[in-house]
Order: sequence, then C-alpha cells, then structure tokens
Amino acid sequence: MESFSRPELFDFKGVSMSSLFTSNWENIQTFQARSDDILIATYPKAGTTWVSYILDLLYFGKKNPERETSLQIYERVPFLELNMSFMDSGVQVAENLPTSPRLIKTHYPSQFVPKSFWEQKCRIIYIARNAKDLAVSYYHFDRMNYAQPEPGDWSSYLQRFMDGKLVCGSWYDHVNGWWEKKQTCPNIHYMFYEDLAEDAGREFDKLCSFLGMSPSDEEKKEILEGTSFDKMKNNNLINHSVVPVMDFKISKFMRKGKVGDWKTHFTVAQNEEFDNHYRKKMKNSSLCFRTEV
Ligand code: A3P
Repeated sequence: MESFSRPELFDFKGVSMSSLFTSNWENIQTFQARSDDILIATYPKAGTTWVSYILDLLYFGKKNPERETSLQIYERVPFLELNMSFMDSGVQVAENLPTSPRLIKTHYPSQFVPKSFWEQKCRIIYIARNAKDLAVSYYHFDRMNYAQPEPGDWSSYLQRFMDGKLVCGSWYDHVNGWWEKKQTCPNIHYMFYEDLAEDAGREFDKLCSFLGMSPSDEEKKEILEGTSFDKMKNNNLINHSVVPVMDFKISKFMRKGKVGDWKTHFTVAQNEEFDNHYRKKMKNSSLCFRTEV
C-alpha cells in the first residue's frame, strides 16, 4: 500500500507502541468483556494466528462451517487494540461478534488488558515463543507490513529487540509479566510455540482440558490437519494475503513456521552478545525457553 506511511514508535505508559495500538485507548479500556470471552494474548509473532485458528475450528468448525469459508481470521478473532483508518477498530469488530464464546486477540502486556477481562474471570491463553526465533520472525514481519515502524537492517533491529524498542515493548517484560500474572490467576493457560511445534496433539489436549472441551478423535485429527503450517499457508482466509498494508513480495505472513530459524540469521558474534544480554535480563525469571526442538 504505497499511500500508507509507516507509524512512529513512541513511549506509551512505559511501553514502546505505535499509534495503531494506542489511539483507541479509551474505548479499549472500557470494553465490556463477557464471562465466556476467550482472550488470546501474545507478544507479536509468537503463534497468535496458529492458536487463534485452532480455537476457531474447535469452537465453530462443526457448528458454523459457513464462517470457515467466508470470513478472514481477523474478522473471526478480532485484534482488540488495532485501530486503522480504513477498517473497523478491533473493539468494534469484537462488539459486533455474534458468536459465543467470542475469541479476541491482544498483543498488550498484561497491565494494559481492560479490567473487565479480569473482573469477568475470562479465560486467557498466552502463547510465548523463544526470543531468537521471535526476533527473526518480527523482523521479516516489520519489513513487509507497512503498518509497523521502519525496521532498518537486521543488526540494528536485533539491538532494538534487546532494548525493548519495538511495538509492544520489551519481549522480556511481556513474557515475564504474563508469567507472573499466571502464578496468581488460574484463568491463564500459558503455552509455548516450541511445544506446539514439537507435539501439536499433546498441546491441543492440554488446551482442551483447560477449556473444558472434549472433541472426538476425528475432530481433533481434522483440526490438527487444518492448522498445519502448509494448510494455513495455502488458506487465503488465514494467510493474510489480502491485507492491504502487507507486501508479500517482501516476505510472507506464513513465512517459515520453524523452531531454530534464528540460526540462519544470527552471526556468531550476535549470538554471543544476545546470550549474554539474555542471561542478565532473565536471571530472575523461572521461565525456560527452548531455541531448538
Ligand atoms: P515465522 O515468521 O517464523 O514463519 P503470529 O500469528 O503471532 O503473528 O505469528 C506468526 C508466526 O507463527 C510466523 O512465524 C508463522 O509462520 C508462524 N505460524 C503460524 N501458523 C503456524 C503453524 N501452523 N505452524 C508453525 N508455525 C506457524
């Protein structure tokens, strides 16, 4: 989209953000969650779309097959904070969702989540992805998505990732903030991209048990097949190929879908520096990430 100019990054209540995620703040904060809403929360590029589509098929694949062939994934699972001039805001789409439950996505750190989600004790699914693969995935996403600030080159991008100067702020604060929240909030299911990549069936079973769902073996098989990387990549209602601000000539939304792709991007020196920095940032955290499976 040539006429669209990239937004600037700025500090918003202590977190780096772009105006696309903050300009609807009042309406977001007063959003009325319902007790059966399910919030899918992630730092960008952690596997939001993957889990969104799994949940979409789990809840509506059989009940509402028309939805599966007519609506884009972002219409089925609205992005709460997104506010762009040429489309309904995430809040509007969420408010107009006819489904029960409503599946809603957010990239906010936990302290920005509207209070009604906590008051209503909504179930929240948080997906975390290891920092190295996430940084690579985010870099390519920012290159192709004109609704994101200018990414610059890879080495400066990696430095900004380490400094928390990307949209949604510090990855370290995000994953740790949600992890701490999980310790006192039984409504949060915290899962990892790498576990899903390693054994989607096992993680699917854990998700179902958290949600109190019991799909048949056949349904489970169908959902896991439909949500494989290749199926999602070729599904035009899922792969974001119609999003006007994304330039697929630069990179695809469904790019590689791998654990360990960071090895093709990090130099030995970058990896050493990153590991040193990571150890310091995560020294008080009990979170443990895998960078290969
Ligand atoms: P890559 O850029 O590493 O390929 P989000 O939905 O949070 O924006 O995350 C996008 C990332 O999740 C992309 O990572 C994308 O390829 C990956 N992804 C989406 N669906 C996937 C699937 N079914 N299996 C593996 N990875 C998937």
